[in-house]
Amino acid sequence: MKRDLLSMLDVAGNLENIIDDAIKMKKGDYEKCMAGKTMAMIFEKSSTRTRVSFEVGVEKLGGHALFLSKNDIQLGRGESIEDTAKVLSRYVDIIMYRAFSHENVRELALHATIPVINGLDDREHPCQVMADLMTVKEHKGKLAGLKMVYFGDGNNNMAHSLLLGCALVGMKMKIVAPGAFWPDDYYVTKARELGMEVELSEMSDDAAENADVVVTDTWVSMGDEAEKQKRLEIFRGYTVTEEVMKNAKSDAIFMHCLPAYYGYEVTEEVAHGPQSVIFDEAENRMWAQMAIIKWLMGE
Ligand code: CP
Ligand code: NVA
Repeated sequence: MKRDLLSMLDVAGNLENIIDDAIKMKKGDYEKCMAGKTMAMIFEKSSTRTRVSFEVGVEKLGGHALFLSKNDIQLGRGESIEDTAKVLSRYVDIIMYRAFSHENVRELALHATIPVINGLDDREHPCQVMADLMTVKEHKGKLAGLKMVYFGDGNNNMAHSLLLGCALVGMKMKIVAPGAFWPDDYYVTKARELGMEVELSEMSDDAAENADVVVTDTWVSMGDEAEKQKRLEIFRGYTVTEEVMKNAKSDAIFMHCLPAYYGYEVTEEVAHGPQSVIFDEAENRMWAQMAIIKWLMGE
């Protein structure tokens, strides 16, 4: 049966192996497993990291990546996802899809006969979380037992995929968010079923206590633009500042998937400060995705 990466749950049982492989690849140890093969990349939303890291990563693996903006292909004029999946499956070897709706990513994967990668949707961002866990492992030397504290919008794709990813590697996670922005119950329940301690709380002076990893994301995700003013009001007070970082462990790292909006979810001092690993995360998107591609296309 073909493999897909639509949710972090799809790598359950393989996650640490893929991360270790990505760390090896970063040291130059990889083969051209995409030689003569092509990836189609469908984008419904903007992207810097996802587009460039996939394009360059596929090239390093000996393959070719096609950038397809939704508006430039017939999908944008009403051709069905089913037909798009069936047609692309006749030309290319793997599809990456950045979509507004998780259901649409599932629909594409259902009808494609080749592996499909979720390049971010409204519910999850698995490629980013694979890169994030790789980055934590590089900096901390391990994953199990570490505590991640996430600040801000707890009900978005990053918070959800981090809950699943941290649970799968034996980390603990605390989400610090206004009550109305705690994660969707589905993800909290799944993470707890996987054995993770999940704490949910609102902001407090000691919110980052015992954190090995402090993480945040934009307060206004792609698709949330109509609520921008309301969100900026609601999340006021949830900024990751130097004060917040002082409350975490002294060797804690700061993470952000980027793009960041300084003065809102994080101050520029923290994001560009000595504890920040944000640009390692960005680089690791490429290595993690190369390892994901190898796993998806493997036996
Ligand atoms: N982190 C991330 O997915 O960035 P892009 O939106 O630039 O791809
Ligand atoms: N939560 C953000 C992540 C961007 C990479 C968004 O969906 O816009």
